[in-house]
Amino acid sequence: MKTAVITGASSGIGREFALLADRLGIYDEIWLIARRGERLQTLADSIGTKTKLLLLDLTEPESFAQYKKKLQESNADIALLVNSAGRGKFGTLPMQTEQEIDMMIRLNITATVMMCRHSLPYMHSGAKIINMASVSGSIPLPGLNVYAATKAFVRNFTVALHAELKPLGITATAVCPYWMNTEFISNARDTHASDTVNNFMLIYEPAPVAAGALQAAFADKSELVYGAAGKIMVSLANLLPTDLAVRVWNRFRRREVKF
Ligand SMILES: NC(=O)c1ccc[n+]([C@@H]2O[C@H](COP(=O)([O-])OP(=O)(O)OC[C@H]3O[C@@H](n4cnc5c(N)ncnc54)[C@H](OP(=O)(O)O)[C@@H]3O)[C@@H](O)[C@H]2O)c1
Repeated sequence: MKTAVITGASSGIGREFALLADRLGIYDEIWLIARRGERLQTLADSIGTKTKLLLLDLTEPESFAQYKKKLQESNADIALLVNSAGRGKFGTLPMQTEQEIDMMIRLNITATVMMCRHSLPYMHSGAKIINMASVSGSIPLPGLNVYAATKAFVRNFTVALHAELKPLGITATAVCPYWMNTEFISNARDTHASDTVNNFMLIYEPAPVAAGALQAAFADKSELVYGAAGKIMVSLANLLPTDLAVRVWNRFRRREVKF
């Protein structure tokens, strides 16, 4: 049974990955992972491929034990793993609660690593891992500090994993988009720190980003920086001294530019 496993499938780009995996028609089963069961059920009803719904809170260590058990029971052959579950919170460190900080680190970092670790024994040559990083991982970002640092981790972890897995014929691709039109931004702003980041001049739809990510994974790329805005941001990050890049971000982040 060729299986695609997708975390964060209940919304945004994770949902788009599930729709694309269905359309590709090369997977026998798609495992959809998130907390909101009704969302996953509606998605499952709209696609033709057999699905399995795993209602897991990926900030809870117990969820990885449950995932491991499901893998043992089904003896799945994971051909695609997409780690899309992720959350961000705007705000400087003193503005953020312990729970918000802990949630970002557990979900963006620990869950991504653990999902890869537990899935790998069930992956074979030709299998693909896609981890959602972000262009925010390319520069230290005041006001988005912890989130951006988690994405720097995801990017570095994934590119190194790609090299580690090369002898096994398995690839790992870090996907680094600019802003995307999903629930992410409203969730990130839904706090006491809602005006910390206000510049959303350029925003991409998640469907083409998911398509580009799958294309990059099938082309065995370790990283995809999506879109002109993302490429400019990463180029500036590479060209400018870090403190100057941080000052440029700080200058623009609070300017109210809406999409
Ligand atoms: N949107 C952007 O501007 C942007 C830009 C760059 C990178 N990214 C990254 O892209 C990825 C997808 O984000 P998105 O834009 O598609 O946002 P989204 O629409 O908010 O989707 C986030 C997904 O994560 C799941 N999730 C959240 N908390 C969870 C938990 N504790 N356990 C399990 N699942 C959880 C959500 O499902 P439930 O709530 O149902 O659990 C949802 O399916 C994230 O890693 C994000 O950091 C986003």
